[in-house]
Amino acid sequence: MKIFLMAASMRKDSFNKKNIRIASNILKQKEYDVELQEFESFSSPLFNEDLETKEGIPASIQELSQKIQIADAVILSCPEYNGSIPGTLKNTLDWLSRMKPISLKGKPMLLLGASTGAFGAIRGNLHTRVPIEILGAHLYPEYLGLSKAHEAFTADGSLKDDNHMKKLDKILQEFCIYAKRFQN
Ligand code: FNR
Repeated sequence: MKIFLMAASMRKDSFNKKNIRIASNILKQKEYDVELQEFESFSSPLFNEDLETKEGIPASIQELSQKIQIADAVILSCPEYNGSIPGTLKNTLDWLSRMKPISLKGKPMLLLGASTGAFGAIRGNLHTRVPIEILGAHLYPEYLGLSKAHEAFTADGSLKDDNHMKKLDKILQEFCIYAKRFQN
């Protein structure tokens, strides 16, 4: 099973990048075929229908759409901005929704998150789910958020809390069982 992973943050030292890297390594150890990508590789202009009419879908979005299309499952780790979905991710989803077919449609998908606040981006997750579900992804009902992310990692990027590591391993394992149900 091929799994596409990405953090919805462009920040160089992003905690979500660290989080998704750990998730990717766990899946690699379980011998899944993982593709870990950086969000900034797919940066796009602010969505504007006039721009779309004039110039079409940006090449970065076409590339992202293709990568999602060929994956059997998608995992994102997202921060929350002001208790909601980061605008950069919403913009990307709006562009993706203009591609036909919509690559997220029918795709099993898991959301993880990390934030420096006490709630592990759970409030943002509730908003992030909405457009993803509208696009027809089979979003896994459970979510794992990492709170106080600025205190959560060692210098080499590992998780300090073994208990959180076990929870991450468990949700990934359960998500993969779920995702396999949708494989052709
Ligand atoms: C934040 N941050 C934040 N944290 C949180 O727990 N709840 C929130 O609502 C917000 N809101 C918010 C808005 C904006 C505009 C920024 C820039 C930041 C803090 C956020 O969790 C922190 O910057 C993380 O480090 C962002 O994730 P990455 O980039 O480290 O993956």
